[in-house]
Amino acid sequence: MGDSEGSEQIDAGGFLSNFTEDRSYSAAIAITVAIAVPLVLSLVSSGKKKVKQRGVPVEVSGEPGLAMRNVRSNKLVDVPWEGATTMAALFEQSCEKNSQHRCLGTRKLIDRSFVTGSDGRKFEKLHLGEYQWQTFGEIFKRVCYFASGLINLGHDPDTRIAIFSDTRAEWLIAFQGCFRQNITVVTIYASLGDDALIHSLNETKVSTLICDSKLMKKVATVSSSLTTVKNVIYFESDNTEALNNIGDWKISSFSEVEKMGQNNPVNARLPIKKDIAVIMYTSGSTGLPKGVMMTHGNVVATAAAVMTVIPGIGTNDVYLAYLPLAHIFELAAETVMITAGTSIGYGSALTLIDTSNKIKKGTVGDASVLKPTLMASVPAILDRVRDGVVKKVEEKGGLTTKLFNIAYKRRLLAVDGSWLGAWGLEKLLWDALVFKKIRSVLGGQIRFMLCGGAPLAADTQRFINVCIGAPIGQGYGLTETCAGAAFSEADDNAVGRVGPPLPCVYIKLVSWDEGGYLTSDKPMPRGEVVVGGFSVTAGYFNNEEKTNEVYKVDESGMRWFYTGDIGRFHPDGCLEIIDRKKDIVKLQHGEYISLGKVEAALASSKYVESVMLHADPFHSYCVALVVPARQVLEQWAQSAGIPYNDFTDLCGKKETVSEVQQSLTKAGKEAKLDKFELPAKIKLMPDPWTPESGLVTAALKLKREQLKAKFKDDLQKLYG
Ligand SMILES: *[C@@H]1O[C@H](CO)[C@@H](O)[C@H](O)[C@H]1NC(C)=O
Ligand SMILES: *[C@@H]1O[C@H](CO)[C@@H](O)[C@H](O)[C@H]1NC(C)=O
Repeated sequence: MGDSEGSEQIDAGGFLSNFTEDRSYSAAIAITVAIAVPLVLSLVSSGKKKVKQRGVPVEVSGEPGLAMRNVRSNKLVDVPWEGATTMAALFEQSCEKNSQHRCLGTRKLIDRSFVTGSDGRKFEKLHLGEYQWQTFGEIFKRVCYFASGLINLGHDPDTRIAIFSDTRAEWLIAFQGCFRQNITVVTIYASLGDDALIHSLNETKVSTLICDSKLMKKVATVSSSLTTVKNVIYFESDNTEALNNIGDWKISSFSEVEKMGQNNPVNARLPIKKDIAVIMYTSGSTGLPKGVMMTHGNVVATAAAVMTVIPGIGTNDVYLAYLPLAHIFELAAETVMITAGTSIGYGSALTLIDTSNKIKKGTVGDASVLKPTLMASVPAILDRVRDGVVKKVEEKGGLTTKLFNIAYKRRLLAVDGSWLGAWGLEKLLWDALVFKKIRSVLGGQIRFMLCGGAPLAADTQRFINVCIGAPIGQGYGLTETCAGAAFSEADDNAVGRVGPPLPCVYIKLVSWDEGGYLTSDKPMPRGEVVVGGFSVTAGYFNNEEKTNEVYKVDESGMRWFYTGDIGRFHPDGCLEIIDRKKDIVKLQHGEYISLGKVEAALASSKYVESVMLHADPFHSYCVALVVPARQVLEQWAQSAGIPYNDFTDLCGKKETVSEVQQSLTKAGKEAKLDKFELPAKIKLMPDPWTPESGLVTAALKLKREQLKAKFKDDLQKLYG
């Protein structure tokens, strides 16, 4: 996933810097507590919850299982309104409807400067101004110009175009421009490695590459391997010099192409619903990336469905766009905004908030200027926001910490108890006293957060609910289902679940006997999550074998995707993801180990920074590789009087291994793990696993295959 920059850079350090300066809180505490306690008690006692049904069972064909649909739609939705059957039609109709309304906005660059860090490295700092907007009507014209320009440029519309760029307004304009000529767009994460880039462009025989000027260098270095490319169009930035031709490539700037099209309009050649709109390359955990083929109908169906779960979304909303558009989650979110007539302001992970790395001191970040009402995020970013706030509060200590903790507990009680309690008078008090300043970091207007990409930890979800004061819609969707599978609803205050099926699909649980997950399980039915309906994509490009393995068409013609995730249905019809099929391993004597579950339990040991459990059918026990939390381990060594040369030396010592292993065993027992689930032997790995090393994803999920390959010898020794 391409969120690595985001997750690294959005530190919440600034969240509390204002808030903690204020000294008037001490008096306020006493008053507030006096008022709040009785208030809370009365609200909690009156807030008896009634369970609201969100998903209901439905009869479907195909493989037997337990299927659920969204309670609000007894017929699956495929379009947001009649006639919007393709991305091109949807865009044109929305632009017509909202022609005078702000559509896309970008901040004006006022000044660029550099500061030199203590290590001599140079860091770019930006001074950015107000958002400059274009209306839906204006953007539509630019899309038509660009579409015509592509033909003028000599692009053969029966060949594909790739977009390889960070998120920005021109990305969306180019994307929509291609659709007006029925051109399939190939998308590639900006963070993908050279091999993957070459593979995706070559496999889809891309003839025109649209590229960020920043990424031109990367493209140029592999130009000799990109034999199908004929044209390159680059997005200009303020400091782009005119680019010279590279080899046989014809290189043009984005605005040149637009101008060409404006001067020589070409008739549109519109696609139909089942034409392929996008081939999206996603980094797999093994091997080369796979291209997922999405039809126009797939993307439109997801947009239509997600529209229904964001309450009151419309032209009054403002969306802050900064996640990578090459990722289905952001692409789907921006399509939803276009559908709803919502304004999209572009930002970046590096300039998001006032304290972001690239924001020049004394100037303001994207969120402060835009004041968005809607935002998308991924768990890794929200986790960091949470850690940042907590750290700041703890650093301040004393009264600040106390006040924050009281406020947090009170609000948590209210949010947990009922939404009645959540919106009471007390909320106003705490908001004014504590949370308003935290919220202002994101502009102060957020009313709904979308979250996707990976499971969100329950405590982080609650933390954001309380501190940002907005519900989080947690989405569960894969590239293969065009992001449209399940989505938690705004008035659902439960944690850890991903909501009922979106109205564009059915979700079916299919028993997995071998793994011990059955739809007959009590108290909740469990099984592999299988998604069927309008957002289920056409399969993997050029890979029929893999497509047939995980996509099935049933006798009624419905297309189902087998996710490999294990889920269970709550009584209200909401889905919870509990495991991953390929992370479950059978040991020699037949016991099953869920690697993810055990790792999560072991990670609660204070000594663990990262842990990978390893199990295989040839042994009766499992082993683990552990990257220790360096500071904690060094502190222990000091207090235990263990002498050592360096950290590697410390990690190799018998006493150290034994100390960490005891701690793991304790953590495992607390989580009620079985004895065979506890690693019988461990090895401590002194070097952290980072996304750069390719051992974990940008969202810090383990890449098992890579880890296993790299540490093959270490693992072998543990079994030896
Ligand atoms: C590009 O694809 C062709 C087949 O279409 C293949 O023969 C060739 O090896 C590929 N080249 C690279 C660099 O992957
Ligand atoms: C759109 O393009 C695809 C691929 O080139 C083609 O198969 C399809 O027929 C086109 N659709 C229309 C409506 O012309």
